[in-house]
Amino acid sequence: MIPWAKNGRPRTTCVVGVQWGDEGKGKIVDLLSAKADVVVRFQGGGNAGHTVVVGGEKFVLHLVPSGILHRGSTSVIANGVVVDPVQLVEEIEHLRGRGVNVGRNLLVSERAHVVMPYHKLQDELSEGNGERKLGTTRRGIGPCYADKAARKGIRIADLYKPDRFRQGLAALVEEKNRVLGALYGAPPLEAEKIFNDYRGYAEKIRPFVGDALEFVNAAIDRGKRVLFEGAQGSLLDIDFGTYPYVTSSNSDACGIPAGAGVPPKKVRQILGVAKAYCTRVGEGPFPTELNDDIGERLRSAGREYGSTTGRPRRCGWFDAVTSRHAVMINGIDGLVITKLDVLDTFDRIRVCMAYRLDGRRVGKVPVDSQDLARCVPVYETFPGWNADTSQAKSFSDLPRAARRYLTFLERTLGVPVVMISVGTDREKTIRR
Ligand code: GDP
Ligand code: IMO
Ligand code: MG
Repeated sequence: MIPWAKNGRPRTTCVVGVQWGDEGKGKIVDLLSAKADVVVRFQGGGNAGHTVVVGGEKFVLHLVPSGILHRGSTSVIANGVVVDPVQLVEEIEHLRGRGVNVGRNLLVSERAHVVMPYHKLQDELSEGNGERKLGTTRRGIGPCYADKAARKGIRIADLYKPDRFRQGLAALVEEKNRVLGALYGAPPLEAEKIFNDYRGYAEKIRPFVGDALEFVNAAIDRGKRVLFEGAQGSLLDIDFGTYPYVTSSNSDACGIPAGAGVPPKKVRQILGVAKAYCTRVGEGPFPTELNDDIGERLRSAGREYGSTTGRPRRCGWFDAVTSRHAVMINGIDGLVITKLDVLDTFDRIRVCMAYRLDGRRVGKVPVDSQDLARCVPVYETFPGWNADTSQAKSFSDLPRAARRYLTFLERTLGVPVVMISVGTDREKTIRR
């Protein structure tokens, strides 16, 4: 597979998560960005935490695309992303402080919705309530998308129309104060203070704000190499994930057309990133979860702690059932298997091939999360390789048992494994 095929068709590639997020998308996007002209985030927001390690130095990106570390590309935050300007300003300053160039190479869509203080408060309060806890990142993502759908959102462009922004905000804050006060006894927020703060942030981000829609489409039409960076993962997708234990956007390739204004026919190639095992952070069903010492070993060998919230990630074996679901909804052309090295010390490795539910064998993801939670995995077991894979430079350098494991995954999912990651650094990547 050639990431940047020519032959007159759009040179676009998308990187999406196959599991519940944190598959290592940041590392892969960073690698592919070396040859990309434009890197586009199209959904999600500050809930994402994408780690890139360059020469031992670690960067965690939340809102800014992982392409920012390469000088030659432009990073775009498209209309489908929900932007917290407080977090964006912080992230830009942090990156600049570490010597990363952030200037004309960053473009924020004027159509993107803005995460407001009441969104973060609502996320915090409804999670704290405990009744229907989802284990969100508390970044205000769900409430912001809810307001977008309810047509009560504030968009980046609105921040630059001070009179209208002030008026609209006053009405919105009054409504939020009533609702949050009645539901949670929350103390009222002050509209005028929010107005002044956000006017300040708006000026700070003004140099980056523009017409991302035109920019991205023109880049594609001119034959530029455009890379779409998915956040979260396919199983957290609001329509196709493990609802209601999902995020509030289409966190897979389905999100690109609406999230960036790019026609579906222009999205040429989809790469799905999956760990060689599986993790999940937050609440929700996870059939292959291991609540034993094997799960603990995966967590410690894989350093499975959230990049955004620091929460320990739940760990388990690779799930071919949920992965096939992800292959279907994304139309994945090539798989990137990450963290193979984490399995180096396991005597046996398992892959869930189907579930047992109420005495029946089930081969697809049940629509009801409560049913999925009751599913018992049917495993295929493989011998481990008990060898260091982190030094491998090519597929043939890998131990035989590791090659067999990867070949099995690609046969089971019907998609070729095009890249294998065996460590955090850029260099620790095998291309096939
Ligand atoms: P993302 O949200 O999909 O970008 O993934 P995260 O950055 O949240 O989590 C992936 C973690 O795994 C990060 O700490 C990466 O540095 C690390 N990582 C990525 N690829 C590999 C790999 O092949 N081996 C190991 N050991 N760690 C990796
Ligand atoms: P990246 O891009 C893993 C999870 C949260 C929670 C659910 C809803 O780094 O892979 P939200 O704050 O979005 O309303 O939370 O989704 N979640 C993630 N899990 N990686 C992420 O992003 C996530 N973003 C959200 O833990 O279960
Ligand atoms: Mg992450």
